[in-house]
Amino acid sequence: MTAGHVQPAGAAWVHRAIGLIQADYQRSADTHLIALPLEPYRGAGIDLYFKDESTHPTGSLKHRLARSLFLYALCNGWVREGTTVVEASSGSTAVSEAYFAQLLGLPFVAVMPRSTSPEKVDLITFYGGRCHFVDNAAQVYDAARQVAADTGGHYMDQFTHAERATDWRGNNNIAQSMFSQMAHERHPVPCWVVVGAGTGGTSATIGRFIRYQMHHTQLCVAEPEGSVFSAYHRSGDATLQAPGSRIEGIGRPRVEASFIRTLIDRMIDVPDVDSLAAMHSLGRLLGRRLGPSTGTNFAAMLTLANEMRERGERGSVMSLICDGGERYQHNYHDPAWVQQHFGQLVVESPVLTRL
Ligand SMILES: Cc1ncc(COP(=O)(O)O)c(C=O)c1O
Repeated sequence: MTAGHVQPAGAAWVHRAIGLIQADYQRSADTHLIALPLEPYRGAGIDLYFKDESTHPTGSLKHRLARSLFLYALCNGWVREGTTVVEASSGSTAVSEAYFAQLLGLPFVAVMPRSTSPEKVDLITFYGGRCHFVDNAAQVYDAARQVAADTGGHYMDQFTHAERATDWRGNNNIAQSMFSQMAHERHPVPCWVVVGAGTGGTSATIGRFIRYQMHHTQLCVAEPEGSVFSAYHRSGDATLQAPGSRIEGIGRPRVEASFIRTLIDRMIDVPDVDSLAAMHSLGRLLGRRLGPSTGTNFAAMLTLANEMRERGERGSVMSLICDGGERYQHNYHDPAWVQQHFGQLVVESPVLTRL
């Protein structure tokens, strides 16, 4: 800093905070890309890949978003020394934001539906965060705004800022990492990338990157039951509402600002029983437990791979492992809970017959 130059009040703290996040980033490794050689697809020249986002320090794809949202809020002057950070979340983002709030020594409040898995609640508390529960997903927004007002804090608002806080042109975003890790594969530029949408931020980042890089890749969003995005994608009516999704992390009761429908080439509606069946099947194929939104991705991938096979088309299909099954011991990986919420249907899912 030049002699005699007066730094704005609080700037030193913000610089130190940005430095702490950069150092954390420097200590972190990128996530793996897992190839799944699956017949009859491989024999037909179709390769399946999963970007394993469960290996981030906070266990999900939301680790990247939380880092971007904190840098965005710090650089906008919205978060300063002592600011209480508040977020509305289905759980995953709140776990990752609690981690970064702790890194910066800031209070953190997660506003979540009461149904959020207890494992995620424990993780938020583990990172020093406080949980504020509401009865259903549609109430999180106003409740988070109120908590921010009551504490004089900042509502991070992932649903609005996810699509703009992430650098979609590069900077090792999820898309750049996925495409560069495909460099030595037999079909390095995938035909399809399949993701779910909660905020819509992941699909927005990948969709923009694909176009910016002028790839021929198409983007597909795997949509669970009870979500508004498929109808919105068809009609463009942003006032649409829906009952809400039972697949944690994806599907929304209202159209979110970060869901950019013009970036999405195709929506595939996946019945919840297929999501759960696919979650279990892929888990068996990879030898580990996965989260339900990864099952939704896999079910949609199989639909696309089957269509490619029928057309005699060769190529790669990529998707994400969004988080691990260890977060869902009390619900999606508990047979009694599945029976109670989904009945016996899961074992009859057509997904299983395709494998
Ligand atoms: C487990 C899980 N999968 C997928 C997503 C969807 O990601 P995005 O919010 O970027 O659309 C989320 C979002 O919260 C999630 O928690």
